[in-house]
Amino acid sequence: MSSLNQKNVLLGVTGGIAAYKSPDVVRRLRDAGAAVRVAMTANAGHFITALTLQAVSDQAVYRKLLDADSESTMGHIELARWADVVLVAPATADFLARLAHGLADDILTTLCLATEAPVAVAPAMNQQMWQHPASQENLATLRARGVSVFGPAEGSQACGEVGPGRMLEAADLAERLSALFESGALDKVKVVITAGPTHEAIDPVRNITNRSSGKMGYAVARAAAESGAEVVLVSGPTYLSCPRGVRRIAVTSAAEMHAAVLREIADADVFVGVAAVADYRPEKFHPQKIKKHSDRLTLELVRNPDILAAVAALDNPPYTVGFAAETHNVEKLAREKLLKKGVDMIAANQVGDIDIGLESDENALTLIDRGDAVSLPRMNKDKLARALVAEIANRYCAKSRSKNPRRARR
Ligand code: CTP
Repeated sequence: MSSLNQKNVLLGVTGGIAAYKSPDVVRRLRDAGAAVRVAMTANAGHFITALTLQAVSDQAVYRKLLDADSESTMGHIELARWADVVLVAPATADFLARLAHGLADDILTTLCLATEAPVAVAPAMNQQMWQHPASQENLATLRARGVSVFGPAEGSQACGEVGPGRMLEAADLAERLSALFESGALDKVKVVITAGPTHEAIDPVRNITNRSSGKMGYAVARAAAESGAEVVLVSGPTYLSCPRGVRRIAVTSAAEMHAAVLREIADADVFVGVAAVADYRPEKFHPQKIKKHSDRLTLELVRNPDILAAVAALDNPPYTVGFAAETHNVEKLAREKLLKKGVDMIAANQVGDIDIGLESDENALTLIDRGDAVSLPRMNKDKLARALVAEIANRYCAKSRSKNPRRARR
């Protein structure tokens, strides 16, 4: 049974050509057992009639903020309370901008502000409008506020151009909306995460390490566990306590981390490499403390195994996510890393002269996969980790649906 069964869905329709698909969206939602009420903007009326939406939803359609007829059926505040979820499909660039700025000058924006229910949007617009920094910034603002973004898909557009901006199909939207009500987006999914620094021993009292605090990796582990995943956290030395519901494997060196990950990865569905793994280790471990006999000391270093690349190169790899900390050209270098390591996604952040990242409580990420980059703006690491895990869950689900699903094999 769909988790939309007996849910109240408020469908918002805005003025884009994809509004012609809205009756089908209503039909799919009702097929899944949901009660659907529709609110449409004035411009939506240029593409689809209220009468059609009324006929398929079997309910009066809300078109104006202060419309005596529809207010007499259910006032707009009551409607905002009635909804278990709000889906705006299609969501135009103009609507996303107005929502991002908190306008409440029509029925739909007002409902979105007045509701406590989760809000999801299915953007649909010309590909240049989609790629415009203004649209992307509005999207980032909405994501940071917890709005779910479904799509858009790529392909040929009504305007004759080809690119990202097509609204997802009705069946896909119904499925994604239903996923919001599942008990956890990562239920029955095994996630292996590396976190923290590694210590590469020189002698019994000295080692080579880095400034990683482990906070980001631990936040990702916590967020994944909250989403229902079985989480294994392979952690280098940190002072952090193990998040609730997470199984921690404590390691010291990159070699130990590598071995622990390989032991856990065979039945894992998702791997997230957050650890700042030392790229090199001393070739020789001095079993006794090195004494200062001379003015110079040379340490010979050798390369450590690349854990992330090793996981991505497995025969049947999990959905693999790497992190990249760059001081400049973040997106370009992250894209190169994505291809070089053969991973599904890179979460990139800028480090260096800004006070976020490594030891800080805040961070900002740019998510790079084979499609468009998605920005998660600066916020505290717990919030950011939740947004990152939601993005990973979405993409992992899409990938496991499109190919032999690992989840289904269990
Ligand atoms: N990683 C890993 N094993 C290593 C090195 C890195 O699993 N031996 C993972 C990290 O956990 C992170 C990603 O790879 O997910 C970082 O990639 P890397 O190329 O090491 O990034 P940088 O250290 O930024 O590399 P470079 O110095 O080449 O920019």
